[in-house]
Amino acid sequence: MKNILVTGGSGFIGANFIRYLLSEKEFAGRIVNVDKLTYAGNADNLAGIDQAYRERYVFIKADICNLKTLTDIFKKFDIDTICHFAAESHVDRSIVEPGAFIQTNIVGTYNLLELARFNRKRLNLFHHVSTDEVYGSLDENGYFTEETPYRPNSPYSASKAASDHLVRAYSRTYGLPVTISNCSNNYGPFQFPEKLIPLMILNAIGGKELPVYGDGRNVRDWLYVSDHCRAVWAIMKKGKRGHTYNIGGRCEMRNLDVVRMICDILDEMFPNPDQPHGDLITFVKDRPGHDLRYAVDFSKLHSELGWAPDESFDTGIKKTIRWYVENKEWVERVKSGEYMSWLEQQYNQ
Ligand code: NAD
Ligand code: TYD
Repeated sequence: MKNILVTGGSGFIGANFIRYLLSEKEFAGRIVNVDKLTYAGNADNLAGIDQAYRERYVFIKADICNLKTLTDIFKKFDIDTICHFAAESHVDRSIVEPGAFIQTNIVGTYNLLELARFNRKRLNLFHHVSTDEVYGSLDENGYFTEETPYRPNSPYSASKAASDHLVRAYSRTYGLPVTISNCSNNYGPFQFPEKLIPLMILNAIGGKELPVYGDGRNVRDWLYVSDHCRAVWAIMKKGKRGHTYNIGGRCEMRNLDVVRMICDILDEMFPNPDQPHGDLITFVKDRPGHDLRYAVDFSKLHSELGWAPDESFDTGIKKTIRWYVENKEWVERVKSGEYMSWLEQQYNQ
């Protein structure tokens, strides 16, 4: 793998992945980051990387729905590997505006697969980054395995499911060398504050309400983002071509417990006995079609490639909170974007 095209590299996980891979001893090649810089993409997430890795990092602002541009980039940079993160990624937004999810997640992935098909001889690998949400919702028992049937419940997860199916079909039909990873909920630095954990951290610091959907009993399986990056790279290097790998955190938590833990840590950092942060917790109307529980069985990844998460929720959440507290400039810039006012309007409706 010499020239890797990373899509969506300016988003939360993509930016963490690029930082991780450029500092990884086993990778000496170049990364070409193609990102449209939607509201969720942010050049600041990779600030300083172009100077630090002049020969090894290139950024191109482009839409994965534009096949002509992708074709030019592929040729110009002699791409041999694709790692595909770019997506519309927020479930709530997919409920209000599903169109963008169909375009980017399905049509965009189709475009990249066409690019891969036309350049099959030069391609080592197409790695597709996906989510455990394609499997639907669990009740109190059981885990998602790679054999669990797809039953997506939101426009977001349905669009990711469609993209997974396309990747698999291109592998079977055209013999493309692909791998797919389906990962549980991530958290960590650079996550856009529409998602549960950064939203709660920033609202709590700002003394704003902490909106917990429904009764807060929904369960997610949390994974610190650097563990996800390590898993993706392990799969790219040694995963069996044509295979899917689940990635999970072995860390099931109810939303309410996550929010309470954030509040307790902030109480220690910024004590205010008159108003503990937990007083800001507000139960709000539930999300339509809200999946009850996600829990991932990642034994295939563990037994074949020796991967397991390094970070516990306790250490990961403390690092994450500290990062949001210490990176005020990043937070202010992200919060001043148009999208945040749109989001606030949605909450106030
Ligand atoms: P994100 O929303 O933070 O970042 C997405 C990036 O894609 C942004 O930089 C955005 O500008 C870019 N993008 C969007 N549309 C584009 C287009 N048409 N062309 C080019 N670039 C475009 O998302 P994330 O949380 O970093 O997720 C990355 C990937 O990981 C997604 O495929 C997502 O489905 C998957 N995933 C996320 C999680 C999670 O918890 N965040 C868990 C499992 C899987
Ligand atoms: P989210 O971060 O949007 O990830 P996903 O829906 O992809 O799992 O939400 C995580 C959980 O937190 C989910 O059960 C919905 C819940 N949630 C809230 O209770 N309040 C909020 O403000 C948000 C954004 C999410």
